[in-house]
Amino acid sequence: MYEPVIAVPPSFAASALVDEAGYRAMYERSIADPEGFWGEHGRRIDWIKPYTTVKNTSYGHPDVSIRWYEDGTLNVSANCVDRHAATRPDQVAIIWEGDDPGEQRLITYRELKDEVCRFANVLKAHGVKRGDRVTLYLPMIPEAAFAMLACARIGAVHSVVFGGFSPDALAGRIEDCASTVVITADEGLRGGKRVPLKANVDAAISRISEDHFAPVETVIVVRRTGGNVAMTPGRDVWYDEEAARVPAVCGPEEMNAEDPLFILYTSGSTGKPKGVLHTSGGYLVYASMTHQYVFDYKPGDIYWCTADVGWVTGHSYIVYGPLANGATTLMFEGVPTWPTNARLWQVVDKHKVTIFYTAPTAIRALMGAGDEPVKSASRASLRLLGSVGEPINPEAWLWYYHTVGDNRCPIVDTWWQTETGGILITPLPGATALKPGSATLPFFGVRPALVDNEGNTLEGAAEGNLVLLDSWPGQMRTVFGDHQRFVETYFSTYKGTYFTGDGCRRDADGYYWITGRVDDVLNVSGHRMGTAEIESALVAHPAVSEAAVVGYPHDIKGQGIYAYVTLMQGEQPTDDLRRALVHWVRKEIGPIATPDLIQFAPGLPKTRSGKIMRRILRKIAEDHYEALGDISTLADPSVVADLIENRMNRR
Ligand code: PRX
Repeated sequence: MYEPVIAVPPSFAASALVDEAGYRAMYERSIADPEGFWGEHGRRIDWIKPYTTVKNTSYGHPDVSIRWYEDGTLNVSANCVDRHAATRPDQVAIIWEGDDPGEQRLITYRELKDEVCRFANVLKAHGVKRGDRVTLYLPMIPEAAFAMLACARIGAVHSVVFGGFSPDALAGRIEDCASTVVITADEGLRGGKRVPLKANVDAAISRISEDHFAPVETVIVVRRTGGNVAMTPGRDVWYDEEAARVPAVCGPEEMNAEDPLFILYTSGSTGKPKGVLHTSGGYLVYASMTHQYVFDYKPGDIYWCTADVGWVTGHSYIVYGPLANGATTLMFEGVPTWPTNARLWQVVDKHKVTIFYTAPTAIRALMGAGDEPVKSASRASLRLLGSVGEPINPEAWLWYYHTVGDNRCPIVDTWWQTETGGILITPLPGATALKPGSATLPFFGVRPALVDNEGNTLEGAAEGNLVLLDSWPGQMRTVFGDHQRFVETYFSTYKGTYFTGDGCRRDADGYYWITGRVDDVLNVSGHRMGTAEIESALVAHPAVSEAAVVGYPHDIKGQGIYAYVTLMQGEQPTDDLRRALVHWVRKEIGPIATPDLIQFAPGLPKTRSGKIMRRILRKIAEDHYEALGDISTLADPSVVADLIENRMNRR
């Protein structure tokens, strides 16, 4: 295979934080002496009581325990806000660019402090205390960042739920962490369309069982569009009215390094979404350290990550990492394709963005719209590009590099996960020669390894399952309320290691190439989804008796959702029913789970013990039905001919 290598531009290396020799030296030290390395770098944030211990971690199944800086105390919001408000009060902390190109807000660190304190006081006035869980279901408006930081200020634990999730999905997440307070907005605005957030919250609350031990007591509603929404007296309050009644001063709580900072729900291969729990000290050290080194961040940069705060990328690289570093972070409410395909590049020019971080799915979609929208903007301010969320195909990488970056800007392809809290495998732009499609090399302190399906370690150039041999400060600590599930999910497949769920190739230069999930998790437009969740939504429909969902290659989304559906006796496989099922899944989970293709299947391929053979379903969905392998072990091999005959993805 031809693999171009793109050297670090000498001009970039000259002013970069770390060059190649610097990376090697720091990496080697971080592995040889993690205590010393992280002990030193932990001081990049302010501690109220400094830590005396650094690392206390064990991957020893079944007693997995991960603690960093465990006797230190700090406040995350003081680190992201107060220390910069004291030293650079007039610097812009958040540039907010509205959905409508005519709307923007610039929030300085001084203003950010006032806003966060007010929000914290509103939460306190509604009885929120240390350790309480608060669910946020908000659009991409500055109040989302204020609310997250306000929780951190008073020691409450936020659980942000992406605004694209349905009322049912929201209800499950509110119930699981027993939040009694929900923060939302009247409506969201994306691509000129309104999103009924408050109405969704009402619907979600009405679905939470009446005898749930922690009913929702308060809904705080931020006014975004001014749209008409129902307010339940005694439960729902307007944020602006509440904020007007409280002072803009609120002291930060002294929190332990291992006190929870947030929960973020993410999909796995089985069961309900898991509440990934991150804690305070190690997470902030890791988010700020990676933000600085991976993006070569320096004062004066204008940094833009296009993610939504409903995902971990928004947590670590819109809010916590950049603000901990005193950066100017841009928050974008809209979508890349509205009002035109040139929107992102217009925003880059308007705010003189220097560092731009987005997802391959956006790059591919914009590549499909041609070069003209890109060329209509100068993009002269850009110096670094980033990619995250899914493997980036070399064609999209090269287009990003040549057309968006004018061959001038290194691309950092950053591999990580909700669970990892921050970036683990990535180039450092002043240090690492790039190969399009490779996430390249591990960050400081990260020890990746490849194992075969039996758990044997693979050396040198090899392909296998990606595991991590030791902990890093940003690692998740547990699944909220279910430590056993944490241990089982991540530490029981290959004992003594953290299993990522990803397949990966390592080339002769030691570069890592993520090949995608090896479990039943899909990555659709960079959104992570469990096939089991979509299947359980489908079988909840009265016409469906059985469903199996697999991914298939999709030009823009990376993976598309392919559902095989067996109907109840007497149901007819019509196009109307197909549309109804698509609508049903959107309603049950949200638009991100919309099935792309539904094939009605009279039978699914099962072993004699009743296990669905997904390997066969995947091959047929990929249109590679000639390579099905051995099907003689199926209970009824004849179902396969029908599946092939009626396959939906013909190329
Ligand atoms: O399969 C990997 C893919 O996204 C998964 C993690 O998804 P999530 O927890 O939603 O976090 C996404 C944002 C960090 C991984 O297991 N993934 C993420 N980044 C990359 C990637 N695959 C290839 N290359 C990447 N840069």
